[in-house]
Amino acid sequence: MKYYMALAVLLGVLSLVAAIERSDFPPLFLFGTSTSSYQIEGAYLEGNKSLSNWDVFTHIPGNIKEGDNGDIADDHYHRYMEDIELMHSLGVNSYRFSISWSRVLPRGRFGEINSIGIRFYDKLIDALLLKGIQPFVTLNHYDIPQELEVRYGAWLNSEIQEDFGYYAEVCFKAFGDRVKYWSTFNEPNVLVKRGYLRGNFPPNHCSKPFGTCPNGDSDTEPYVAAHNVILSHATAAEIYKKKYQVKQGGSIGIVLSAVWFEPLRDIPNDRLAAQRALSFDGPWFLDPIIYGDYPPEMRQVLGSNLPTFSFEDRRKLKYKLDFIGVNHYTTLYAKDCMFSPCRIGDSDQGNAVVFTTGDRNGLPIGTPTAMPTFYVAPDGMEKMVSYIMQRYNNLPMFITENGYAQGGERYTSVKDWLDDKDRIEFLSSYLTSLATAMRQGADVRGYFIWSLVDNFEWLYGYTLRFGLYHVNYETQERTPKLSAKWYKKFLGGKNKLQKMSNYMKMV
Ligand code: NOJ
Repeated sequence: MKYYMALAVLLGVLSLVAAIERSDFPPLFLFGTSTSSYQIEGAYLEGNKSLSNWDVFTHIPGNIKEGDNGDIADDHYHRYMEDIELMHSLGVNSYRFSISWSRVLPRGRFGEINSIGIRFYDKLIDALLLKGIQPFVTLNHYDIPQELEVRYGAWLNSEIQEDFGYYAEVCFKAFGDRVKYWSTFNEPNVLVKRGYLRGNFPPNHCSKPFGTCPNGDSDTEPYVAAHNVILSHATAAEIYKKKYQVKQGGSIGIVLSAVWFEPLRDIPNDRLAAQRALSFDGPWFLDPIIYGDYPPEMRQVLGSNLPTFSFEDRRKLKYKLDFIGVNHYTTLYAKDCMFSPCRIGDSDQGNAVVFTTGDRNGLPIGTPTAMPTFYVAPDGMEKMVSYIMQRYNNLPMFITENGYAQGGERYTSVKDWLDDKDRIEFLSSYLTSLATAMRQGADVRGYFIWSLVDNFEWLYGYTLRFGLYHVNYETQERTPKLSAKWYKKFLGGKNKLQKMSNYMKMV
């Protein structure tokens, strides 16, 4: 008896320290890497593409670190075949990327479909499939044709719902015979908080205390923009479900940024603040799409600043979604600002009347990374996935992004960039935490590392590097980092089916 108990304890300990393996995930699980159009494509004026809001924004001095922009980025537009080779050599079975709206419809629904843009994505998709890599396609990853901004104020105007529906249908029609995973939006919660609450993303709208911008109203605009995003999702989902899904056999979802929040102080108000910070984030979008209305906490705090859904809106919302995409990187502390004084203007979660920070009495919540709000706190993955599982009745989920930011200087040597042991530790600890959530029943169907290659990191330009492959921006040479070798080895490990059939052969 004693012997068995000791053995059980030993096995338990071993499973805790054992390295995560491919076989800890189901055989058909998607494993991939993630990118987005503006961050890697470059070729910003080629092939009849029009200017996007990000092309315009990055060209305004002072907006981006070191004056960087995505004009060339990773030149993926010309090097996509080489990049597919990189993926193939990793052994991934899926690739998440986004379509540039301004490449496919340079003038939105006010102009022609750009056949050169369509051809580019056609070639990309065909080449991926030839290598056995499933395309996992995002329709909007922050960038939109600037014309929509100029003409009618983009996300602030309900006209955009029609434009987005039109754009989505052009894509379903052109690529849906081969694309089986569609996300309407990437991180609309970040898009509206940055674009209209704090104003440090285009269109640079905000008001005090959240920021100083030439235009905007942080008390109302984020909610109007979000409302139009939610209804744009519903418009696209309706089109897909009514006209394409049966024929094409794919699925459609939405991807949210999913920061986990812990109370800063062990007091009820901070526990409520952490709950509020969570609700004002992903559920701001997911609750209306899945349950037909905003989270009750949002209505309580925001009152009439939060729009309501009309009868027609609710009809459209019934098309819901097939999966939830989760971008998880970090955990932060939340402090209540309803009853304690604090600086709500300083964090992306300020509209929830909370202050968020990675620091408690001088101690970071996890090892800091080069991205100021990203800490290594792997338990957050399990907690976030369980939270979504419970809140949304275990709808299928994909971890659409998870990754590690390296920082350095312009003179940091390539050798140092390649030696990214910290990234390996990050990825394996987060994967371990994900596997724990899945063992508890979470229906997670895939995991994508951000990112395949170093790329344009928004406000940080090229100063932060998330890639499994290092990019030399002078020569565009790609070099595998240690983490690329690690991912390849991980993916090359046997999956559960293979392991089982080997076992069956033995017995
Ligand atoms: C989330 C965004 O979707 C992506 O564009 C960004 O580069 C990564 N997070 C890292 O910050």
